[in-house]
Amino acid sequence: MSYYIGADLGTSALKLLLVESDGKIINTVTCEYPVFYPNPGWSEQHPEDWWTAFKKGINELIKKVPVDEIKGIGFGGQMHGLVILDENDNVIRPAILWNDGRTDKETDYLNCVIGKETLSELTANIAFAGFTAPKLLWLKANEPESFNKIKKIMLPKDYLNYKLTGIHCTDYSDASGFLLLDVKNKCWSRKMLEICSVTEEQMPTLFESYSPLGSIIPEIAEELGLSKNTIVVAGAGDNAAAAVGTGTVSDGRCNISIGTSGTIFISSDVFSVDSFNALHSFCHADGGYHLMGCILSAASCNKWLCDDILKATDYETEQQPITDDKLGNNHVYFLPYLMGERSPINDTDARGTFTGMRLDTKREDILQAVLEGVAFAIRDNLEIAKASGIDIKSSCLCGGGAKSPLWQKIFCNVLNIPITIPQTEQGPGYGGAMLAMVGAKEFSTVKDCADKFVQIKETINPTPEIAQRYEIQYSKFKKIYPQMKNIFKDIK
Ligand code: XUL
Repeated sequence: MSYYIGADLGTSALKLLLVESDGKIINTVTCEYPVFYPNPGWSEQHPEDWWTAFKKGINELIKKVPVDEIKGIGFGGQMHGLVILDENDNVIRPAILWNDGRTDKETDYLNCVIGKETLSELTANIAFAGFTAPKLLWLKANEPESFNKIKKIMLPKDYLNYKLTGIHCTDYSDASGFLLLDVKNKCWSRKMLEICSVTEEQMPTLFESYSPLGSIIPEIAEELGLSKNTIVVAGAGDNAAAAVGTGTVSDGRCNISIGTSGTIFISSDVFSVDSFNALHSFCHADGGYHLMGCILSAASCNKWLCDDILKATDYETEQQPITDDKLGNNHVYFLPYLMGERSPINDTDARGTFTGMRLDTKREDILQAVLEGVAFAIRDNLEIAKASGIDIKSSCLCGGGAKSPLWQKIFCNVLNIPITIPQTEQGPGYGGAMLAMVGAKEFSTVKDCADKFVQIKETINPTPEIAQRYEIQYSKFKKIYPQMKNIFKDIK
């Protein structure tokens, strides 16, 4: 039997999976690390913490299997984070993460001065604060000494691939989120590199997600207790990896991932741009393309409310009073913009907001509003896809948030489409292992691997009365942000 390691480099933790070549997960290890918020709306992590977590986790993960039988490693990694190394390969400053909102000035410059049309022509996307290019502009303006030291630019999972193989690389799916990639033609945009004052030499070499980069550096293999013959594939951004892990490959499939962020991911064999540029148009890990909407706070809203505010010990117990008759009947509404918002409103000043509370409002009404607010925000993105002529008949649901049967039901009825729940909710890690298997030639395509491995545990269908009630509630939810938009600017 051969084995593969799939790694999900998330925002709160690194999740490692050991998967048999028949697709069975036989071990999982999670290693947490901190996120730093040095200023309101900023978020950073130390790349060294990711590497420490990887070394610690690997040890634990592979204890019970013969190392020579571990054939490959593949990552799904949090996207857009700016990692920069100097000429001695030292990390210059903490990574600036995907949900960091410090770059509103640079984002405005790109969208308004360079212009959305030009950006869309060069990269297939407009600028969002979390993308990597505005971070480079911010660094140049605010920390020129760091900017001038940059020898290598990379994304979070690429840092771990670099530590493992010594190869400075990235894959097309993750590279798309730089806003420096000509997504359609799969090459760096010279013009965009120029706009951001960086050179192609500083940028990572581009690979397909399932392409083997090479083997692990012998000394590192020894330190990790791995074989130097284990291949490392380029891997993918976490959403593309999650899509692979849930079988959202080839044309016209949809996956919704509810992790720290929430995303709706629509796979496509051909390149396209949504007419509003509100969705991201990125490369996929299967060799094709996808459209994606991303909300910055999803399961993190529930975690924030339960852990930090309610000091709840058990999420399931908290959700118990929210029975079917309450769905679509809540008088409390919540805008889930705890870190500002990406798609579709692109507003770094937006903030979490409750409205509608009364003297008889209970703890569970507030929790329900949070779960619903996240589903409504995903619906905002589904509406954009629909308005662009994309017909989404059903979607897979994965990520930590997808574990809650109540939240599954809320998503299904708010979106009013059937929702499928895959056997494993470990989308990005499982996808990473699958990419490694394709790299090791266990399968000739990502789709072949997905067809063989991905199994659906359950399909949930909307209940017409609940979906109807949510239709009315969604129309009310939609009116709240436009009224708050200027207030958010005032109170920031
Ligand atoms: C996608 C995005 C997030 C992160 C989360 O554009 O920014 O989903 O990848 O890890």
